[in-house]
Amino acid sequence: MSTPEMERGAEPEVDLELSGVRRAFGATQALRGVSLAVRRGEVYGLVGPDGAGKTTAIRMLAGLMRPDEGSVRVLGADPAHPRTPVREQLGLVPQRNSLYGDLSVDENLRFFSRLFGLSASDFTTRRERLLSITRLERFTDRRADALSGGMYKKLALACALLHRPRVLLLDEPTNGVDPVSRRELWELLYGLVHEGMTLLVSTPYMDEASRCHRVGLLYAGELIAEGAPRELARAHGLAASNFEAVFLELIRGRAA
Ligand SMILES: Nc1ncnc2c1ncn2[C@@H]1O[C@H](COP(=O)(O)OP(=O)(O)OP(=O)(O)O)[C@@H](O)[C@H]1O
Ligand SMILES: [Mg+2]
Repeated sequence: MSTPEMERGAEPEVDLELSGVRRAFGATQALRGVSLAVRRGEVYGLVGPDGAGKTTAIRMLAGLMRPDEGSVRVLGADPAHPRTPVREQLGLVPQRNSLYGDLSVDENLRFFSRLFGLSASDFTTRRERLLSITRLERFTDRRADALSGGMYKKLALACALLHRPRVLLLDEPTNGVDPVSRRELWELLYGLVHEGMTLLVSTPYMDEASRCHRVGLLYAGELIAEGAPRELARAHGLAASNFEAVFLELIRGRAA
């Protein structure tokens, strides 16, 4: 199946795009006209505090919710279209509880592989590869609920990668994860980008901004700044490692 965008032929350079996206829940304005574009092969960090609108933006990109206003494009197509082929190219690691706690590591992988329609032989290959990169081989019989925070997130990532997506959306993948596992997770993510994947990662941790190629700072439903972490920091006379200060500076600038 092809979409009008695909029929035009040219592959878009931009894999993920929000244009003027607004979304309200009752009186709460979750997104107030957000525009952003994630380029192919990029790690884009959607950085912002609790309630900034990160999950809402990710839900839009995953095609799980439509904007009140504005448009959403993933690989040039509308991800919320019921018959879009784009879904098969998209992986999603939700913010929380994305796995079956009563099922083991292996059973979760098997369950999601059936959901994605993987053949038995494809599953065998993918299972081996994903257990290896997440270093979960020794824990295949452990129930998901009994995994550490870091291992749980790695299993959620493995499940989201089973169908070999080209674009991956990760909603706070390192929240509740200890610093060593956080570093391991980031190494894993860089490995995926090295293989050609495009990543959008949301995080409330300002220090993680410096790990992204570009970041968008989301605050109260608005993208208040965007750019390469080093450039944003330099513009404020600060070190990229001190991104929290950059963010606070930007918020202060708005309040003034
Ligand atoms: N389904 C919903 N119904 C009502 N309000 C909602 C709904 N989803 C989100 N909101 C509100 O919209 C705003 C943005 O929420 P969102 O979950 O996108 O933020 P977030 O940046 O992901 O926050 P967190 O870091 O806490 O996950 C919040 O004020 C939230 O309470
Ligand atoms: Mg969220």
